[in-house]
Amino acid sequence: MEAAEAAKSDGKILNVGILLVATLVAAKLISALIMPRSKKRVPPAVSAWPVVGGLVRFMKGPVVMLREEYPKLGSVFTLKLLNKNITFLIGPEVSAHFFKAHESDLSQQEVYQFNVPTFGPGVVFDVDYSIRQEQFRFFTEALRVNKLKAYVDHMVLEAEEYFSKWGESGEVDLKYELEHLIILTASRCLLGEEVRNKLFDDVSALFHDLDNGMLPISVIFPYLPIPAHRRRDQARKKLAEIFASIIASRKQTGKAQNDLLQCFIDSKYKDGRPTTEAEVTGLLIAALFAGQHTSSITSTWSGAYLLTNPKCMSAVVDEQKKLMQKHGSRVDYEILSEMEGLYRCIKEALRLHPPLIMLLRSSHSDFTVKTKEGTEYDIPKGHIVATSPAFANRLPHIYKDPETYDPDRFAPGRDEDKAAGAFSYISFGGGRHGCLGEPFAYLQIKAIWSHLLRNFEFELLSPFPEIDWNAMVVGVKGKVMVRYKRIELPLN
Ligand code: HEM
Repeated sequence: MEAAEAAKSDGKILNVGILLVATLVAAKLISALIMPRSKKRVPPAVSAWPVVGGLVRFMKGPVVMLREEYPKLGSVFTLKLLNKNITFLIGPEVSAHFFKAHESDLSQQEVYQFNVPTFGPGVVFDVDYSIRQEQFRFFTEALRVNKLKAYVDHMVLEAEEYFSKWGESGEVDLKYELEHLIILTASRCLLGEEVRNKLFDDVSALFHDLDNGMLPISVIFPYLPIPAHRRRDQARKKLAEIFASIIASRKQTGKAQNDLLQCFIDSKYKDGRPTTEAEVTGLLIAALFAGQHTSSITSTWSGAYLLTNPKCMSAVVDEQKKLMQKHGSRVDYEILSEMEGLYRCIKEALRLHPPLIMLLRSSHSDFTVKTKEGTEYDIPKGHIVATSPAFANRLPHIYKDPETYDPDRFAPGRDEDKAAGAFSYISFGGGRHGCLGEPFAYLQIKAIWSHLLRNFEFELLSPFPEIDWNAMVVGVKGKVMVRYKRIELPLN
């Protein structure tokens, strides 16, 4: 009897169990059939050896890695780099959040912290976002059109003076020449006439030490006690002393100047507090770091492409002739703004060779991106988020024959960068942190090249330059030797 009862109860348990499993399976099936299928998932991961594998892949060159992984993994993927996850967002379809997100969601402070020992305390990435925003407002005000007009006069004068020292004909390293001219122009427009006229050699040497103190290793260990970092710290201290005395003397004499230094001296935070001498020095260093190598590299690439593309060269020379017929030999802000052909040639050189190849943010909240194929990925908070101008500027679904130098892709009617929507052309970043110096950079490069096109003929002697991927600001590898001959443009 007892055995029969036990068997009956076991059977009941079994039946309940079967019913439960059947219900769960049915519920799962029904939900799979009637609920919309969620495609959400974490981004695919780059395959690499455990622990250091990601680092090895990254050190081989981030753009090399992107070229290998994008075709396999698509526009969103994650690389494990030691204890960090870097999620790449490649292309305008997935990078809008990168450019538009608020600092509290995607911040720059942590990822660009390595700049602090170079720029100094109390500025940019050493201060809270609210202060940084105000300091960037100082930049915006200092680079407004009325200020730019005055800077252009300096740019034109510097170019005239510099190239007047060239002979009737000769051979020069174009890269070296343009680097030097841009240091002089930057000194005049940004650091002021005291530095340009009296302290140029001292200040250039100190900036050189600051520059050499920014190494790939500095990104991970900015305070590592190595000689390059020690020289960097000493140079910064000396620069601070030099600028303190220039600022004091400007304040004493009450003589205002037309340069970035003066703008920063006159800038005030919204509570009425004026900038300190240390802040002014730090902001000037930041401006030079943001604008000097980037502009000289772009001038060199622009030259290399013009000298190897006769059609483009003759179009920009014709444009100069037309402007000279219209305005004589004068060059000012308005005339530079009419150089649309030259602008497109520079913009195209910069599309192919953006000096800042990788832009980074640190993510403080989860977010979702949707690829152009419709797949959604959730990017968790804590990831470093990256995008790459060097890679994204050459996407074939945005640019026709992306590897070809074709400035007319930006001409009215084609507008390839606009046709694909915002964030298709990201050499200057975009959105919330887009470059504040873009107009300054174009004016400077146009002022240089319009002078060269009007006064010289060139022939490229070196092979077409290669890219120096090892530099922090990626530029041209080796010398760019050219033969020049002085000319007078025939205007008829
Ligand atoms: C060809 C020349 C230049 C290139 C390619 C360039 C590129 C860039 C890029 C890509 C960014 C965005 C960085 C990011 O999103 O993480 C940026 C930001 C910035 N650039 Fe430039 N830049 C150039 C020239 C200049 C010049 C001449 C100045 C100043 C005189 C300047 C000042 C700045 C500043 C202040 C920012 C920070 C903006 C912000 O975070 O709100 N840049 N630049």
